[in-house]
Amino acid sequence: MNFISIAKQRRSVRSYTERKVEPEKLDQILEAAHVAPTAANLQPVRLIVVQSEEGLAKIGTAAELYGAPLAVIVCADHEKAWVRPFDQKQTSDIDASIITDHMMLQATELGLGSVWICYFKPDVLSKALSLPENLEPVNILAIGYADGETADPDRFDKERIPIEHLVSYESLR
Ligand SMILES: Cc1cc2nc3c(=O)[nH]c(=O)nc-3n(C[C@H](O)[C@H](O)[C@H](O)COP(=O)(O)O)c2cc1C
Repeated sequence: MNFISIAKQRRSVRSYTERKVEPEKLDQILEAAHVAPTAANLQPVRLIVVQSEEGLAKIGTAAELYGAPLAVIVCADHEKAWVRPFDQKQTSDIDASIITDHMMLQATELGLGSVWICYFKPDVLSKALSLPENLEPVNILAIGYADGETADPDRFDKERIPIEHLVSYESLR
């Protein structure tokens, strides 16, 4: 499948079957994370893979996981992240999100569903995972086999703003 077909096939899945994610598929998803770019190649991201019932229940106290059998908690390491010298902007959220997107699209290519989750209680999640001060949970990617229909790959005409509203050439219209 070419890239745009994978991107169009992806949708947020909020209902999963009980089928576990095969270890070789998880490995491929993590490899996609591993090759993602980060600012200045500083790689200020840590991934915590949670698959056990107890682990998922713990994460579930901080976030709705929609019954997914696997969650990857994407954490930014604020001690390692690149900082832009002009305004001190730290790019760790961006780095964490590129990695999350790589995993999400790799999961799609493998026939898996996923949903990107930011609606979580960060303090509860950090405590549940015993995260040190420098690690901030930025995203959760819930992954599993979708329970239900696949999405229409032509849905974007309705579900996204027109491309002319997204893109301007040369200057902002
Ligand atoms: C940064 C970010 C945060 C998101 N947080 C949540 C979330 O907490 N819970 C949820 O159900 N979906 C979440 N989503 C999924 C979006 O709601 C979804 O991608 C969007 O509505 C477009 O739908 P689609 O993914 O099916 O194309 C998030 C997506 C992104 C990119």
